[in-house]
Amino acid sequence: MKLITTIREMQSFSSDVKSSGKTITFVPTMGFLHDGHASLLKKGREVGDILVMGIFVNPTQFGPKEDYASYPRDLKKDLVVAEANKVDVVFNPTAEEIYPTGFQTYIDVEHLSKYLCGISRPGHFRGVATVVAKLFNIVMPDIAIFGEKDFQQLVVIKRMVRDLNMEVNIIDMPIVRESDGLAKSSRNSYLNMDERKAALCLCNALIKGKGIFNNGIKDANTILKEARNIIETEPLAVIDYIKVCDINTLEDLEKITDRALLAVAVKIGGNRLIDNCILG
Ligand code: PAF
Repeated sequence: MKLITTIREMQSFSSDVKSSGKTITFVPTMGFLHDGHASLLKKGREVGDILVMGIFVNPTQFGPKEDYASYPRDLKKDLVVAEANKVDVVFNPTAEEIYPTGFQTYIDVEHLSKYLCGISRPGHFRGVATVVAKLFNIVMPDIAIFGEKDFQQLVVIKRMVRDLNMEVNIIDMPIVRESDGLAKSSRNSYLNMDERKAALCLCNALIKGKGIFNNGIKDANTILKEARNIIETEPLAVIDYIKVCDINTLEDLEKITDRALLAVAVKIGGNRLIDNCILG
């Protein structure tokens, strides 16, 4: 396995791979890998020739009061996970390498970035779209793999790829959960024991909402009321949002006619967690 830290070396490696007629699969991450990332790597190993994993905690997707400085990092352990998952190249640039002095070009997926997490995290998706576009230009993947836990991110990236005619095939992978249902996330490491228990209210709310939907209720407000109740009975939880929305446009739905996204963001003891499920 190769560890590459510079753009020049990564681009030259990818150019050589492409000229040899092989395909590149890319799994971008911010590191502190867990089983959710491992599922993306496993898929990546199956679908292409050369598997590249990005490890880069991207400063532009964090707000000024967010956890960029304290975001969990453990490169040594991540390299062990990468090796175990048969990654060919880990691309781990510094922030200065990606954003040199004078950097000023950003990508704004205007409409989709305004909903859900975009409301309490202004600028977040601008940072995500910008870094993903840059990473695509550097790694030159044929395929890129993202998890459905960050559902809005996935929709934003798919839109950007279409809008900017990028020749990358996006594959999305299902959420990986702990045995008790909590969605795997690097930020779960912030939770103390009580918060960890309280965090189950996110997936329990989704299970409640999905159960009601499966019983034939298609009215979004009825589903949301019951799901919200589960979170509101948890003293450590503060709801940021809970929404039933269109899976493509992310606009709120009142009545579910086909499929819909049930998405939640909740602060547990100050730590913001997200989760979602598809209804239908
Ligand atoms: O999902 C993530 O880990 C990040 O948002 C991504 C896609 C690697 C961009 O920094």
